[in-house]
Amino acid sequence: MNHLISPSILAADFGNLQRDIELINNSEADWIHVDVMDGEFVPNISFGFPVITAVKKHAQKPLDVHLMIVEPERYLKAFKDAGAAGITVHYETCPHLHRTVQVIKELGCRAGVAINPHTPVSALEDIIADVDMVLVMSVNPGFGGQHFIENTYKKIKQLKALSQTVNPDLFIEIDGGVDSNNAQKLIDAGANVLVAGSAVFSSANPAAVISTLKHPKKL
Ligand code: DX5
Ligand code: ZN
Repeated sequence: MNHLISPSILAADFGNLQRDIELINNSEADWIHVDVMDGEFVPNISFGFPVITAVKKHAQKPLDVHLMIVEPERYLKAFKDAGAAGITVHYETCPHLHRTVQVIKELGCRAGVAINPHTPVSALEDIIADVDMVLVMSVNPGFGGQHFIENTYKKIKQLKALSQTVNPDLFIEIDGGVDSNNAQKLIDAGANVLVAGSAVFSSANPAAVISTLKHPKKL
């Protein structure tokens, strides 16, 4: 399958959010990545329901909601109601991950599970068949603009191998430090969804960066 691009609005200009959402609408982006941080699971607070509802009002692409919050099961319906098409929870925050994944699916959303850089792919062995997506964190979650962790390539290959027979259509999403220099290598390793925040929004031409990520040059 052709890979998807999910620009992260964490790096957008929140004073001009409608403009930045429209910019994504008019680009080759496939989804809009929405990072929710609670100041407890991660050392940063981003935004909540009023902002997501405002994004949804203008968005013409599905909202790919990444929950970096403790006890995400308390808010799944609220995120669905705010406009989430996909909801990704962190493995590290879910003692009853199987139940949480089922609830996300029952809500009619794509169910994703994210793993931190230190969480091994093997931890997903007994959930891999049930999820629509695995998000591999390629930085420590909490902030945009961090340096890509090289160990991610190995994890993508392991995930590809783990999912091949039981879940061949799995979305393998990479989040953190993705740019036009590493996009092709990530795809070659088996990634099929790329999140990019600062690479897109720190550019003078975000739509052009999104196109480059969608059609990276072979190295
Ligand atoms: C980090 C977030 C990322 C972040 C990526 O915790 O999950 O989605 O927005 O930003 P960049 O692309 O700047 O690393
Ligand atoms: Zn994210």
